[in-house]
Amino acid sequence: MTDVSTSLSWRKMAAPVGAVVSGLDVRTIDNDVWSELDALFVEHHVLVFPEQELSAADQIAFASRWGSLVRHPYAGMEEHAEIIELRNKGRRRDVNQHWHSDMTYEHKPPKLTMLYALEAPEFGGDTAFANQELAYASLSAGLRAMVDNLAAHHSAAGLAQLYREDPAQAPRADHPLVRTHDQSRRRSLYLCRAFTERFVGWTKDESRPLMEYLFHHSVRPEYQARHSWSVGDLVMWDNRCLLHFAVHDHGDEPRTIYRLQVEGESPA
Ligand SMILES: [Fe+2]
Repeated sequence: MTDVSTSLSWRKMAAPVGAVVSGLDVRTIDNDVWSELDALFVEHHVLVFPEQELSAADQIAFASRWGSLVRHPYAGMEEHAEIIELRNKGRRRDVNQHWHSDMTYEHKPPKLTMLYALEAPEFGGDTAFANQELAYASLSAGLRAMVDNLAAHHSAAGLAQLYREDPAQAPRADHPLVRTHDQSRRRSLYLCRAFTERFVGWTKDESRPLMEYLFHHSVRPEYQARHSWSVGDLVMWDNRCLLHFAVHDHGDEPRTIYRLQVEGESPA
């Protein structure tokens, strides 16, 4: 492919989103290669690096090239608080089985999420993505003019209930309904069924019809792609312009993933 000038060996993952980079050991890259990867990332929003052999420290070192990592006070690994180990063992369903961008209820949600597969099911357990630049660009001029001037209220209250925590204490934040990517300057819809409660200045009842329309529109099949995991896959995606969904269709087949996130700016 030639849309980004690069010495990297890569192919598109799917029509709406993603690039698969082959023959690269992410432990060995220099600053020039990192710049090329970042350009590819901004253009394609998901990067897949197959056949990696990474320790937790290797994954942290690679991700840190994109910025400071989010540290988790409770859920992080003992020696590496930046990494959460995601395992399906003993769980009937994954709590991430909904369309969302990570932690939109924070004032500064993480800009990217990076997953590394230590165990993968033979089939299932995919991660699905939906390109929100395409979702925004395909709205009519009339609806774009409306959503351009709205902000949305995001809340972790639903998530808190899932974890049996107090919803009243859950974090909340208001963000523009359409955000501009700080690197590409392209605009994306920024709402999700998991965390967006209403438009700012509107009631929940008033918000619901237009929000429902946008929830459906934002995940139309032509904006979507899925990644099927193999052991050794390292995958990073851009929370500034994508929704994602952890498909839990693999039952008890083991799936073990190391997840980390890079801090982001306030959406604007
Ligand atoms: Fe997520």
